[in-house]
Amino acid sequence: MSNTDTDFEALRARLHRAIPGGAHTYSRGDDQFPAIAPPLFVRGKGAYAWDSAGQRYLDYGMALRAVTLGYADARVNAAAAAEMENGVNLTRATMTELLAAEALIDLVPSVEMVKFGKNGSNVTTAAVKIARAYTGRRYICVPRQQPFFSFDDWFIGTTALKRGIPAEQTASTLVFDYNDIGSLKALFDAHPGEIAAVMLEPATTMIPCPPACTRPAGWPSTGTCAGCDCNAQNFLQQVQTLCRKDGALFILDEMITGFRWHLQGAQTFFGVQPDITTFGKGMANGFSVAAVGGRREVMEVGAINRPGMERTFLLSTTHGAEMTGLGAFIATAQIYRDEDVVGHLWRYGASLRDGMTQVAARHGLSAHFQMDGPPVSLNYLTRDTGGQVSLSMRTLLSQELLKRGVMMPWVAISQSHGPAELQLTLEALDGALGVYAQALDGGVEKFLQGPAIRPVFRSHN
Ligand SMILES: Cc1ncc(COP(=O)(O)O)c(C=O)c1O
Repeated sequence: MSNTDTDFEALRARLHRAIPGGAHTYSRGDDQFPAIAPPLFVRGKGAYAWDSAGQRYLDYGMALRAVTLGYADARVNAAAAAEMENGVNLTRATMTELLAAEALIDLVPSVEMVKFGKNGSNVTTAAVKIARAYTGRRYICVPRQQPFFSFDDWFIGTTALKRGIPAEQTASTLVFDYNDIGSLKALFDAHPGEIAAVMLEPATTMIPCPPACTRPAGWPSTGTCAGCDCNAQNFLQQVQTLCRKDGALFILDEMITGFRWHLQGAQTFFGVQPDITTFGKGMANGFSVAAVGGRREVMEVGAINRPGMERTFLLSTTHGAEMTGLGAFIATAQIYRDEDVVGHLWRYGASLRDGMTQVAARHGLSAHFQMDGPPVSLNYLTRDTGGQVSLSMRTLLSQELLKRGVMMPWVAISQSHGPAELQLTLEALDGALGVYAQALDGGVEKFLQGPAIRPVFRSHN
């Protein structure tokens, strides 16, 4: 039992013996990485993580996007350590909790009150509960194209992973298509006066269809809009209008977009004012903090100072206001204000997108390796000989990047990704695409050193 064990197969076996799934998040699972990926990491610093053999990797996973400044940021760690000395968690509300709530309220105009949790899933589920309590209605609408809102049954039951979930738990969750306002209107028409809320991520690699469907220049692919009114509002504004007209709440899940698109969230970037917002990843540089916040009148369903009001049991947890995480959040938010972290994420993303696109072009692979999405929300697409998006080719690319010291399961950028990291990435991609081109000619199986990555949301192993 040492943390320098270099036998990866033995470590993998120990992980699966001790932990169902071998990790605490399915997106950290073995089936999400090439076989040669280290089964675990021992430590991280800045933009890098080290495996148990001491091998260093430039990381674009960044703890499932939770670390936005860089691993082990000394300023954030010092703030968290100070809160350890203050007692970590006390018997009544704490000063740290008050200051953290006020910091989020100061930052995001639509947030007038806030409750903290430790996991994103808890706060999105809390948002659903607030909406149902406030409106007295039943249905929640989520877009089909967005993969994940919560581990709770109300959402997971809508995916391929239905085992253990009674059908009635999901019967009140309805699905529409992102950028297709007609599909959402159809749900409102089918359930008049019964929709409690629409919840969606403001954007992913797909951005809201802009007014009159005019896409910003230079943004490679933003998905297609369908049934769009092509009026003066972007898709999110149309969703907001629809919700307001009907009396449903408009909820934005800014777990990924928050602290990346704009200091005030993607909601400010796209010009909307949700009733409720959820935040998490990106709040506290990897410390466990999530938040549900929103309009006072709505959030006050959880209040105890409104005499005679029917009570709502809203997100009551022992560890929700644990002071280390909230201290880390206050420090992280201050660094964001002082250092234009968001601007850095946009600029690095643009350089990365352009650089990777140029490397692919040099290899004659522009039709097979493509960058997708806006600079702050990038993805890469790997296509096979026939031009189809291919997980085998993605696995091969990941494998070859790993051999060259870069782990890129998705593209999460931090403040610690700078010019040296950009250069390292482009050199690794250059080498990896050399192998990629050979695999397009000779068959990917010959080059893959293990099974291809598989989607998390599949019904069977
Ligand atoms: C958009 C979105 N919402 C909610 C969650 C849940 O967050 P957590 O993993 O902190 O529970 C995630 C996590 O990946 C997410 O991406």
